[in-house]
Amino acid sequence: MSDRIHSLSGYMQEYQKSVHDPENFWARIADSFHWQQKWDQVVNWNFEEPNVKWFLNGKLNITENILERHLFTHGDKPAIIWEPNDPNENHITLSYKELYHKVCQFSNAMKAQGIEKGDRVIIYIPMVPEAAIAMLACARIGAVHSVVFAGFSASALADRINDCQAKMVITSDGNFRGAKTIPVKAVVDEALEKTSSIESVVTLKRTGTDVMMKEGRDIWWHDAIDGMPFENKAEVMDSEDLLFILYTSGSTGKPKGVVHTCGGYMVYTSYSFRNVFQYNQGDVYWCTADVGWITGHSYIVYGPLLSGATSVMFEGVPTFPDAGRFWQVCDKHQVSQFYTAPTAIRALQAFGTEPIAPYKLDSLKVLGSVGEPINEEAWHWYHDHVGKGKCPIVDTWWQTETGGILISPLAGITPTKPAYATMPMPGVQLVVVDNEGNELKGNSVEGNLCIKYPWPSMLRTTYGDHERCRQTYFSSFPGYYFTGDGVKRDEDGYYRILGRVDDVINVSGHRMGTAEVENAINEHPKVVESAVVGYPHDIKGQGIYAFVICDMEGRSEESLEEEIKQTVNKIIGPIAKPDKIQIVPGLPKTRSGKIMRRILRKIASGDTSNMGDISTLLNPDVVESIKSTAR
Ligand code: WTA
Repeated sequence: MSDRIHSLSGYMQEYQKSVHDPENFWARIADSFHWQQKWDQVVNWNFEEPNVKWFLNGKLNITENILERHLFTHGDKPAIIWEPNDPNENHITLSYKELYHKVCQFSNAMKAQGIEKGDRVIIYIPMVPEAAIAMLACARIGAVHSVVFAGFSASALADRINDCQAKMVITSDGNFRGAKTIPVKAVVDEALEKTSSIESVVTLKRTGTDVMMKEGRDIWWHDAIDGMPFENKAEVMDSEDLLFILYTSGSTGKPKGVVHTCGGYMVYTSYSFRNVFQYNQGDVYWCTADVGWITGHSYIVYGPLLSGATSVMFEGVPTFPDAGRFWQVCDKHQVSQFYTAPTAIRALQAFGTEPIAPYKLDSLKVLGSVGEPINEEAWHWYHDHVGKGKCPIVDTWWQTETGGILISPLAGITPTKPAYATMPMPGVQLVVVDNEGNELKGNSVEGNLCIKYPWPSMLRTTYGDHERCRQTYFSSFPGYYFTGDGVKRDEDGYYRILGRVDDVINVSGHRMGTAEVENAINEHPKVVESAVVGYPHDIKGQGIYAFVICDMEGRSEESLEEEIKQTVNKIIGPIAKPDKIQIVPGLPKTRSGKIMRRILRKIASGDTSNMGDISTLLNPDVVESIKSTAR
C-alpha cells in the first residue's frame, strides 16, 4: 500500500503533513480501504464534551476489509497460524479464504441464536483461533464484542456482562495453559448466576473438560455452526457505529468500558501496523499478547489481518515446556516480526541464554515491546541475544484508550534508543504539560503526557457513562487528552515514558487500579481498611503491595494474608493478587482523611530514608510502626 514510510526523511515529511493538514493526510490513508459509501467529512471534534467523530457518514464493514478485500489477491495466504500450548499437538493454519468461511459461518450461527446489530456479546475464551473468529463474526453482523481476559474471575466477568447488558457469551469448556488445564465454562456458569441479560452461551470444545449445559441457554460451538452457510453479506456499518467495548482499569472505582468505533479504528490500526513493524508480504508476524487485552485486538487480529498479514496466535506460555518455547516457535514458523512484553523478556532473561542457544532465530527482522516501560538491561538482552544485534526494537507506547500505537520507532526507518519509545506516529500531536497544565515547550523537559489533536482510533466514550470519560481523560488538563503517564522529552526530542502518574499499577503489563484492588480486599469480613500501592518488582515491573487494617480476633497474620489473597482472586482474578500484604495498625492520613500514598509507596519500595514532612499528618506515629514491620 502507498502509505508505507520508507526513510527517516519520509517520516519527517509525513509527520509535517499530518500536523499541517490532518484531514487530507488521513483522507489519503482511509482512501485505500473499501468503503460502501465514502465519508462526507474527515473529522469533527472537540475535547470539551468530548465529541470525536472520524470519517463521518462513511459506511463500511471492517471484515470486508479483512476478508473480501484479500480473497482474490491472496486467498490462499495464511491469515492465522495457531500454535497450541502443547508442542506435540499440531498447529493450525487458516488461509484468508478459510477464515472468511469460518467467520461467515459462525456469524450466521450467531444470527440464528438471535444476535442482531448493536447487541453486545461477551467473548470469554482462551487463545484459540475461534477467539479471532468470534470477534470477526461479531463485527461481520454489527454485534459489539467485549472480550474479557479468560483469567478474570466469575465476579469480574459478571460485572462486565451487567455493565454492557450483553446477550450472549462465547466461551470454551477449558483452557490449556502450561502444565495446567483451567476450567472456563464453569466460571461462566458461576458468573451467570449474577446476571440476567444473557440469552445464550456458545461453548467451544477445547480441553474435553466436563461441563454443565443448561437447556435452552447453552449450545456447543460445533452444534451452533452445523448446517450454517459459509457465506453471507456483511452488515453495513456507519464509521461511528460501535465496533467493540474493552474494559480497563482506571484510578477510581470499577473498570470502565472503553468504546472503539468502526471506521477510525480500522484505518489507524492497519496504518500503524504496517509502518511500525514494516511488514512485507511473505513475512510471518507474531504478537504474544492475549486477545483479552487491547494489544491482542489491535495487533493480533485487526491491524495485521486488515493488512493481509500472516499473524501467529499462541495458546501457551513462554516457559512451557521450557524457557525456550518462544524461540522454538519463532524458528518453527520462521517468524519475522516478534512482539512481546518487557515482563516476558525479564522472566526469560532470568533463565540466562542457554534456552536460546538451540535456536537459530535467523528469520527475525524486527522485535517489539509493549505494555510497560522496558528497562535498559532487558532492552539490551532482547537486542543482543534474541535479535543477535541485527533487529531494531520497536518500543511501542500506547493504551487501551488510544486503540493503536502512538509513540514508537518505525522498524529500521527511524532511530531507536534503549528504554525510549522515541517519536510520535504521524498524526499524533503530543504535548508535555506541568501539573498546572502549562505546556512545556522545547527539549529536556519532563511532565504529564497529553495529546492535543484527535487521531482516528481514539476512544469515543466509556460505555454508558460519557461523563466518566470526560472526567478521566479530558478534565485534568482542559483542551487536551490526558494519558495518565509521566514522560520525559530528552535533549534530542525523544520521548521516554516514565510510568503512570495516577493510581494505576502496571503489573506484568496488566493495568490494575489501586481502588479496584482495595475494594476487593475490603470484601473480606475481617478487613477494616486497606491501601494498595505499586512497588518495583524485578520481573513484573511493578508488584502489588497492600497495607491492611484488620480485626485480628481469632486469626493469625498468616491465615489472614492467605484469606485476603483468596478474596482478591475470587473478586478480580489471580492477576490482582497482592504480592505482599502487611497488616498495619493504621494508615497515614492527612487531616482531611486522605491516605498519604506517597509515604506508603516509599515504604513499599524499601526506601525509608526520608519520609518528607509527616508532622502535618493526622497520625504521624503510625508511620514509624508501619516502617518497622515493612515487608
Ligand atoms: C503503559 C497497553 C512504557 C503506560 C497497550 C500506558 C507503556 C499503559 C508502554 C496502557 C511502553 C504501554 N512504554 N509504558 N512502550 N506501553 N505502557 O491500556 O503506562 O493495557 O498508560 O495498553 O501501559 O496499558 P493498556
